[in-house]
Amino acid sequence: MACCPCAAKSIKKTKQKEDQIKASSEKPNLEQTLDVKKKAILSGESEKPTAQTFSFRELAAATKNFRADCLLGEGGFGRVYRGWLESINQVVAIKQLDLNGFQGNREFLVEVLMLSLLHHPNLVSLLGYCADGDQRLLVYEYMSLGSLEDHLYGLTPDRKRLDWNTRMKIAASAAKGLEYLHDKANPPVIYRDLKCSNILLGEGYHAKLSDFGLAKLGPVGDKTHVSTRVMGTYGYCAPEYAMTGQLTIKSDIYSFGVVLLEIITGRRAIDNSRPAGEQNLVAWARPLFKDRKKFPQMADPILQGQYPTRGLYQALAVSAMCVQEQPTMRPRIADVVTALSYLASQNYNYNPEPKRNSPQASPSTPRPKRDNSRKPAGGSSRKSTSEE
Ligand SMILES: Nc1ncnc2c1ncn2[C@@H]1O[C@H](COP(=O)(O)OP(=O)(O)OP(=O)(O)O)[C@@H](O)[C@H]1O
Ligand SMILES: [Mg+2]
Repeated sequence: MACCPCAAKSIKKTKQKEDQIKASSEKPNLEQTLDVKKKAILSGESEKPTAQTFSFRELAAATKNFRADCLLGEGGFGRVYRGWLESINQVVAIKQLDLNGFQGNREFLVEVLMLSLLHHPNLVSLLGYCADGDQRLLVYEYMSLGSLEDHLYGLTPDRKRLDWNTRMKIAASAAKGLEYLHDKANPPVIYRDLKCSNILLGEGYHAKLSDFGLAKLGPVGDKTHVSTRVMGTYGYCAPEYAMTGQLTIKSDIYSFGVVLLEIITGRRAIDNSRPAGEQNLVAWARPLFKDRKKFPQMADPILQGQYPTRGLYQALAVSAMCVQEQPTMRPRIADVVTALSYLASQNYNYNPEPKRNSPQASPSTPRPKRDNSRKPAGGSSRKSTSEE
């Protein structure tokens, strides 16, 4: 991947996040918007408070004092616990922020503000928060199946491998969440932290995007980008954003392409345990994208060949388009949703007995996108309106 080494240094590599410190004159009204809403939310004056406040005592009781057996996982901002909140009679996930001075506080505010303003079936819901003294905690709906990362890489005897149909369903649902942020929110929201650990799964593998602490309001008016410090996660970050700090919605499309590639291949975006040349997923995939005879080599071996050949080709073609070096060549998220919704609707049934007299039709692989007016392969040009 063409992340320049100096930029890559500032990208999160060891789960450390940086904060944008200086306000740039190019920046749209994020700060103003946040300042207004921040005051309203923190002073309880918000017209429609969608997230309620909880006391620290209540959240400690919900998690049996943050007991280790309630721990769901740990990320760059702190630990996440499963809890039972008596007041709302609900199982919840509680993230206790590891406050790193000012930075953690800002992520907390952005998360509360973004999730209070944005609502969609494919975005995780924020039920409330706690800002008692120095404590900063976020209370989310509990996603019973954990993260996509757990399912792709953390296979345990009690967890069944993801089949092809489920993978496509998850990819389509995540794309719908991103479509809401890019195309329905006004101004658009650039998510900036799309990766497998931030795609959470509920019953029936219903996928939702989580973690909005890094999200930014997108450019407004005739601006084409937002200038920011480079943040995000190494391996998912678009090369032009890593090099220039200029953030556009196409940076998210790149990250989405990496996630889709992980879903198809079962390989991590960055995997230092693999041989040189295979450690960076996109760098490994680029030459293979050019030769469709090699596409079957890219499918997750755990699938054991149980995928539709044509569907595999089409999903890889969508991913290839998303990770193109040139941001303008990457598709819009609405087109990605159309293509993936089509693939998710195909419901592939694995038939172990090959039919003798009906050889599979040779797959026609869609070519990577060359200009923006064309739609990605796999679906009609009609924009999908269904939401999961
Ligand atoms: N709402 C939730 N429901 C169920 N499990 C959750 C929920 N939120 C987080 N988790 C679990 O907690 C883990 C840690 O989440 P967290 O967002 O803190 O870190 P991360 O996504 O791994 O890394 P990062 O801090 O870079 O986003 C997740 O991988 C997931 O398994
Ligand atoms: Mg996360």
